[in-house]
Amino acid sequence: MPSLLDLSNSTILITGGAGAIGRVVVDMLAGHGATVVANDVLSAADAHAALPVGPNVRYVQADATDSAEVERLFAALEQTVGLPDVVCCHAGVVGAHPVQEYPLAEFDSLMSLNVRSAFLVAQAGAKRWMAAGRPGLLIFTTSWVMDVPWPEITPYSASKAAMKALMRGFARELAPHGIRANAIAPGIVGVGMAKRQWDTDPNYQARARKAIPLGQLQTPESVAHAFLYLCSPLAAYMTGSVLLVDGGCSLYPMDE
Ligand SMILES: NC(=O)c1ccc[n+]([C@@H]2O[C@H](COP(=O)([O-])OP(=O)(O)OC[C@H]3O[C@@H](n4cnc5c(N)ncnc54)[C@H](O)[C@@H]3O)[C@@H](O)[C@H]2O)c1
Repeated sequence: MPSLLDLSNSTILITGGAGAIGRVVVDMLAGHGATVVANDVLSAADAHAALPVGPNVRYVQADATDSAEVERLFAALEQTVGLPDVVCCHAGVVGAHPVQEYPLAEFDSLMSLNVRSAFLVAQAGAKRWMAAGRPGLLIFTTSWVMDVPWPEITPYSASKAAMKALMRGFARELAPHGIRANAIAPGIVGVGMAKRQWDTDPNYQARARKAIPLGQLQTPESVAHAFLYLCSPLAAYMTGSVLLVDGGCSLYPMDE
């Protein structure tokens, strides 16, 4: 019986793919046979240093917040690996300031990457699938904080709640075209943006230590497993869903 986790017939695009979680996701999906195109703003040299090496991993540098760059990204894909089967809106940024001091310019740039670029990239994929009469899958990376306020990152929480709403909207509106959309909501991962806050902000670390019922920082591999599942035929009937993989963070742990 063929493996239900064999992705060798899938081509997958992931924005922010050279980031700390993204590169592990790329490795996981490519390791299961997918052709994976990582997009990021990093130089090709920096991205290639971060990404796994393999015949089925490619890199395209583009700014996912810029519509002309996103058009160029999809054109580059179509000229090489073809239209992707899965588009992952994964690039994101966090900023930490008390709400009363949060700089508006930082609010705008966070929303531009987390929300606007996710919309732009999802729209670019969806319109091509519809024009080609093909099915497609969108995956949005949200966060457990889309539903739970966490001090000093309120615009980030709002952006992830907006991404969840975008995901549900794409899922509802495009289901008749065979286009599905789901989200992955990780918890507090021990690499990338959360690890930077963990390492630099003692208040964050003290709070995070109490917030994870399973008691340890999340591995990026656990996030990658969620991507693998959603990209596989095992999840073929899922649309409009959030796959929460957060070690129980959103269970509102008490300070026992
Ligand atoms: N680390 C965590 O604990 C955690 C938890 C929940 C959700 N997430 C989400 O996972 C995703 C990745 O987070 P991470 O921790 O790996 O962060 P990261 O900073 O390591 O990776 C983000 C990547 O996005 C890229 N990027 C930035 N601007 C871009 C643009 N305009 N176009 C294309 N790429 C761009 C960056 O260069 C970087 O490589 C984000 O959406 C984040 O919100 C992270």
